[in-house]
Amino acid sequence: MMDFEEIKNIDSQYYMPVFNRANVCFTHGEGCKLYDINNKEYTDFGAGIAVSCLGHNDPDLVNAISEQAKDIIHLSNLYYSPVQAKCAKELIEGSDFDKVFFCNSGAEANEGAIKLVRKYYYNKGVKKPVIITAKNSFHGRTLTTTAATGQSKYSAPYAPLPEKFVYVPFNDIEALKDAVTDEVGAIMLEVIQGEGGVIIADKEYIKQTAQICKDNGILLIIDEVQTGMGRTGKMFGYEHYGIVPDIITLAKGLGGGVPIGAVLARNDVANAFSKGDHGTTFGGNPLACSASLIVLKKLKNGLIEHTQDIGTYFLEKLKTLKEHSAVKDVRGLGLLIGLELEAWINSKDIIDNMLSNCYIIIGCGNNTLRFCPPLIINKKQIDDMVDCLDSVLSLNKEVK
Ligand SMILES: Cc1ncc(COP(=O)(O)O)c(C=O)c1O
Repeated sequence: MMDFEEIKNIDSQYYMPVFNRANVCFTHGEGCKLYDINNKEYTDFGAGIAVSCLGHNDPDLVNAISEQAKDIIHLSNLYYSPVQAKCAKELIEGSDFDKVFFCNSGAEANEGAIKLVRKYYYNKGVKKPVIITAKNSFHGRTLTTTAATGQSKYSAPYAPLPEKFVYVPFNDIEALKDAVTDEVGAIMLEVIQGEGGVIIADKEYIKQTAQICKDNGILLIIDEVQTGMGRTGKMFGYEHYGIVPDIITLAKGLGGGVPIGAVLARNDVANAFSKGDHGTTFGGNPLACSASLIVLKKLKNGLIEHTQDIGTYFLEKLKTLKEHSAVKDVRGLGLLIGLELEAWINSKDIIDNMLSNCYIIIGCGNNTLRFCPPLIINKKQIDDMVDCLDSVLSLNKEVK
């Protein structure tokens, strides 16, 4: 096997230099554990950016995709597939939506949702091209989704961008009301801005947004790429808010690590797409759908409740760290939790320090540690990590 130095050299020579990689190379995993090239064990509180909801090497997931691979991996959407049909039914039945479109990623799901909105008004012959999104949001890295993302650092170098996105401050209902015009066709929001720093939408904000949409004939898209699939202790994050969006988008946890995304909508919206209007070669292929079926089964058979319970425990445990002067805030829902640090301490240093102690944590937003472990995480793993973080934070005192 190649050694780590060789891998880093190859990466730097042959891979486009877009990623800021941590100084570690993983080769395999088991449950919430990852193992590096020297077989050193780490506990994973990042889950590959909120993806590996069943943990690593889940036997049922591995078995399902292995068996599926023996039958058929890929078909294209030119033909019917039993496993895709089953997956669509499992996802839609009992949900607030009537139809799904499968794709491969979160950005692609949001692209699909935006195209669906455009087509919906095109069919009606109505000009409502504007989509309102929130500042500090994150909707993906394609050209249109960087334009939808309310953070210019992701889009500025890529102008000219797709037009007609209007950004409003998050959690500010008056600003949203001011932005509504006859030209607005949709409002697209995350209920928790994950990449933006685990910023949770206020209950009233989302409720009133949904009402504004109803009153003005505007479609409400909730980007559930990070908050969906049980991550917040409910199947979808919007369920915490007592509203029903017109469209939601999913990816990340949907395939437990196998790439798959989805757009879900009610019939009156979904049927704006006719044959040939949208498409994908890989989206919802048998392999990805076989993985999703296992994720859905486990979520519906107790994993969501576990996420809710363990998430509450985790949040309380992390709140005990507020006694450290470095900790500015701790907030979260289910297993999407942020610990924001004061400006005098650099979150990257803490993340690196935790990594050298064999805990994987990822950063987000403004100097914030993000905890989004596999949904199967247990109390002991949480206790051990919080103890370690407690010690690491104790070593960091503000120099005045
Ligand atoms: C809310 C949200 N939307 C969209 C995306 C983009 O997903 P992907 O990286 O799968 O394209 C992300 C990724 O972090 C996300 O958090």
